[in-house]
Amino acid sequence: MVDKQATVIRAMFNSIAWRYDFANHLLSLGVDRLWRKRLVRRLSRHFSGDIPQILDVCCGTGDLALELSALGPVFGADFAHFMLLRALQKGRSRSSPSYPLHWVETDALALPFPAGRFDLVSAAFGIRNFASLEEGIRELARVLRPGGVLAVLEFSMPRGILFPALYRFYFRNILPRIGGLVTGNEAAYRYLPASVHLFSSPAEIRALLQRFGLTPLSVESWTGGIAACYLAQKDSPPAKPA
Ligand SMILES: C[S@@+](CC[C@H](N)C(=O)[O-])C[C@H]1O[C@@H](n2cnc3c(N)ncnc32)[C@H](O)[C@@H]1O
Repeated sequence: MVDKQATVIRAMFNSIAWRYDFANHLLSLGVDRLWRKRLVRRLSRHFSGDIPQILDVCCGTGDLALELSALGPVFGADFAHFMLLRALQKGRSRSSPSYPLHWVETDALALPFPAGRFDLVSAAFGIRNFASLEEGIRELARVLRPGGVLAVLEFSMPRGILFPALYRFYFRNILPRIGGLVTGNEAAYRYLPASVHLFSSPAEIRALLQRFGLTPLSVESWTGGIAACYLAQKDSPPAKPA
């Protein structure tokens, strides 16, 4: 049973915030950093020559928002106060020059921004936690301008025989123990594989994006299928007859 009530998810991430980055890099052997960089490279090609207004929801401790700030000004949004505090500290101590970063404590299902405010909305390893995936996607689509891009990175389960079997064993039996030892909250690292297991398939996500006026540009499977990258573009409203 996976409880995705906002209060439960927020408390869970607040409790692991102090060690979130260390646990992430350790448990993924540093691959999580490469995924975010790869996503930003994809997006830099898409926005080459433009300076996009960016919203990174579920920004956590800010790793993706920090990378994205090389492309344009970024709002990093998350509802877990202590995750955001880490992001704030990291933003203050960053060395490379880039566009401004702002941190906003808010639920991604009720964003304090007007419709069409952003050219790019991103979410890395966040949407799987939404209390309602439909309401979340609807809200992300609302704050995108027509023609703007939604970029989602999320865990997925690899398909096949040998690698998937090894990965499943690691994900369900080893990762929760190491995550528990590092952060003191083993339940959070039992929630991770359970929530990925129950999460929608790439085909379901595509269908949902389309339902909310987002045309999929690409769906890529990364690192043997343990992560998926979705890029979608918000449709423009039909032209009014003259
Ligand atoms: C697994 S972390 C990912 C953090 C970061 N994007 C990264 O790549 O490391 C998920 C984050 O999503 C946030 N989150 C989950 N549901 C949310 C919601 N409805 N509104 C805002 N933040 C949410 C959590 O607080 C947590 O910081």
